[in-house]
Amino acid sequence: MCGIVGAIAERDVVPILMEGLRRLEYRGYDSAGIAVVDANQKMIRLRRVGKVKALQDGLDENPVVGVIGISHTRWATHGEPNEVNAHPQSSGDHLSIVHNGIIENYLSLKQELLDAGYEFESETDTEVVAHRIDFHLQKNNDLLAAVRATVAELVGAYALVIVSSKFPDRLIAARCGTPVVLGLGEGENYVASDVAALLPVTRRFIFLEDGDVADITVASMKVLDSEGNNPDRPVRKSQLSENAMDKGQYSHFMLKEIHEQPEAVANTLAERVAGGHLLEQAFGHKAHEVFSKTRAVHIIACGTSYHAGLVARYQIEQICRLPCSVDIASEYRYRNAVVADNTLYVTISQSGETLDTLEALRAAKKKGYLAHLAICNVPESSLIRESDLVLMTRAGPEIGVASTKAFTTQLTALALLAIALGRGGALDADTEQKLIGQLMQLPDLLKQTLKLDEEIKELAKRFADKLHALFLGRGIQHPIAMEGALKLKEISYIHAEAYPAGELKHGPLALVDDDMPVVTVAPNNELLEKLKSNLQEVRARGGELFVFADPDAGFKSEPGVTVLTMPAHVEEMQAPIVYTLPLQLLSYYADVIKGTDIDKPRNLAKSVTVE
Ligand code: AGP
Repeated sequence: MCGIVGAIAERDVVPILMEGLRRLEYRGYDSAGIAVVDANQKMIRLRRVGKVKALQDGLDENPVVGVIGISHTRWATHGEPNEVNAHPQSSGDHLSIVHNGIIENYLSLKQELLDAGYEFESETDTEVVAHRIDFHLQKNNDLLAAVRATVAELVGAYALVIVSSKFPDRLIAARCGTPVVLGLGEGENYVASDVAALLPVTRRFIFLEDGDVADITVASMKVLDSEGNNPDRPVRKSQLSENAMDKGQYSHFMLKEIHEQPEAVANTLAERVAGGHLLEQAFGHKAHEVFSKTRAVHIIACGTSYHAGLVARYQIEQICRLPCSVDIASEYRYRNAVVADNTLYVTISQSGETLDTLEALRAAKKKGYLAHLAICNVPESSLIRESDLVLMTRAGPEIGVASTKAFTTQLTALALLAIALGRGGALDADTEQKLIGQLMQLPDLLKQTLKLDEEIKELAKRFADKLHALFLGRGIQHPIAMEGALKLKEISYIHAEAYPAGELKHGPLALVDDDMPVVTVAPNNELLEKLKSNLQEVRARGGELFVFADPDAGFKSEPGVTVLTMPAHVEEMQAPIVYTLPLQLLSYYADVIKGTDIDKPRNLAKSVTVE
């Protein structure tokens, strides 16, 4: 969602704060701001609507220098994205704070502050927190104590970093439900909402837990938990390389990340299989005990990760013969789900910080599931810390807001899960070996599929001016069609919907005319003939078909039908992953033509840490 950076040093921290923001901008980007205490112990604050570049332009016009400061890139929750609502928010001329998350009881706290004579200039919940800290400071003139007193009053989710020119030797940070990481430097220290912000200055990190408040000076980091104790928060070394965040030769992160998929899938498989068999311990030391007891699976996720869960349902039912249900996390939280005995709860999340998914996991923990397993891409994330079993996808940092390599690595990890669960029952050793062999072919198949790049670029020209599109798939390809539609709408703003092809005649067929492109994925499987009949229904209404087809599926291009032949026949286990790639490329190139901001589509954010 929003991004936070803070630093305290014996040198100018503005370049650290700005580079951190640039690295976090993919998370949220409707306004940005910075506050530093200058050499005269004055708080200097600068905020701009728009991207970090607008803030940098502002700094170029009015340079600011200081040894302590905070910065923020915002994705609006309370109040429209204008300068007044941008962070840092302040109280008086001495205190500035940045905040990620949502304070649910801000209106009642605000009323008390209004009664006490505080004036508000923004519509944000964050300004309430700033005044509240000042309110407590009036009583005891201790910044750490004032922040602790304030967070004890807050209901909701927050990552907070606070600086005051009255206390120019310390930054205070607090976490509840939204990530905060402390970075340890040499004679300087940092804080951020994500390690990515701090990679140019440190690899050593401490992750705050919910309820923690940290007191950060140039020479020390002190963490207090909600009880006021000094908890043991270990220093961890990040393995991420600094240039994992660069676009390299590609014009957008999304294109880079699409092309990284063969390697990302290979990395996700590496060390998880040996001699044609799955290494169950890859899921954690309790995996064997849990999997052998599992009698049902319940998968929870949001967005693209939810689509990955829908694919997994087909595989878990088919391979393991276990019942499997899949829920959208924000719905599951408020549904009184009935949990059968020995049900494994599985969450899927690229970021591991999606609040809906995290809260769904927390709600599930009260419901008596057998165990909680997370499939996730960020090792330091809350989801990983709160789960019993984990399987990391190894996609590497995904910067483009549109999920690409995160999705295909999730599908890979979920296929491994289906094999692990099937092993104790419905899956025999020969079939396991065959399926593992098929997964191991994926990197090569993906490389071949990426060679369609130029052809799809041409195809996209016929898409970019459309207002609507339909995506069709049958069986396990239906969630892939859903993912294709999501990609198109989120970055090109073309309205796109996905349907199981057999469902079209029950309503959506009414939308089909010669201005409605219909995209479909057609591997050569047992549903192919059924799919062909459904496509005839589209042609009969003048709909223009775009078919990504198996070489032997028997499709031919003709007026109104464009067939793009996939490079090779693929097996059922491989098809969802392989057929995702052309749909990603189609959206990408449609967006290039439309000129949208591909890596940072409007109104969205990479990591959704609000409800
Ligand atoms: C899709 O391109 C989006 N990035 C979005 O749907 C995303 O998958 C969703 O917000 C869930 O995020 P997560 O995987 O980090 O939990």
